Amino acid sequence: MNKKIIIAIDGYSSTGKSTVARQLAKRLGYIYVDTGAMYRAVTLYAMQHNYIGPDHFDKDALEKCLPLIHIRFEVSSTTGLAEVLLNDVNVEKQIRTLEVSRLVSPVAAVSKVRKKLVEQQQLMGIDKGIVMDGRDIGTVVFPDAELKLFMTATAKDRAERRYKELVDRGENVTYEDVLKNVVNRDHIDSTRKDSPLRKAANAIQIDNSNLTLDEQFHQILGIAQKAIMQVN
Ligand code: DC
Repeated sequence: MNKKIIIAIDGYSSTGKSTVARQLAKRLGYIYVDTGAMYRAVTLYAMQHNYIGPDHFDKDALEKCLPLIHIRFEVSSTTGLAEVLLNDVNVEKQIRTLEVSRLVSPVAAVSKVRKKLVEQQQLMGIDKGIVMDGRDIGTVVFPDAELKLFMTATAKDRAERRYKELVDRGENVTYEDVLKNVVNRDHIDSTRKDSPLRKAANAIQIDNSNLTLDEQFHQILGIAQKAIMQVN
């Protein structure tokens, strides 16, 4: 039998981690888990209950409510993609707005939030055969993952991609705001105390600034196939 592995993909925001993770999972017949969506869903909950806003964050109130927050994924029958559910409500669209992007990093810096989500993520990977993307997958969630990738691209390239995505989705944003958000999240995500974003010592770094999606996919697929061959 073909033994399955865990593929951990980490990197800065908007480096195209989820695109390649999804492509890879599809090709390998693995499960794809977007852990950023889980942090975004907790952020949306905090926004809905007014625990967080542009000028305030009641961290204690959010921590107290954590047992009431249930996050799971469900494959959409229309798109075939996994979508995130917050307390059984599909919030896939709401969690992708710039408003959530602006507030997610402080929420993701809360240790109790991280503990809850990391435990859930580790359970998801118990049978392996999983591609998980985030910031701490190779360092904290699955430090023994058979394959770890670390994606980078310049802030300018990432902001351009993200701006295009948001505009295509009908959001009224400026490129400057998106660039500011990308740079700000990089800073908070990589300087927070608990599980800061960093490259695991044994992760393979991929800079995709000058790669097309197709080139990136084939490069990473080759690396993944080699890693799978090594365990079989
Ligand atoms: O991947 P993303 O941009 O959707 O992630 C949203 C935020 O969640 C990101 O700014 C940092 C945080 N995050 C995290 O701290 N750890 C993860 N494993 C995934 C995301």
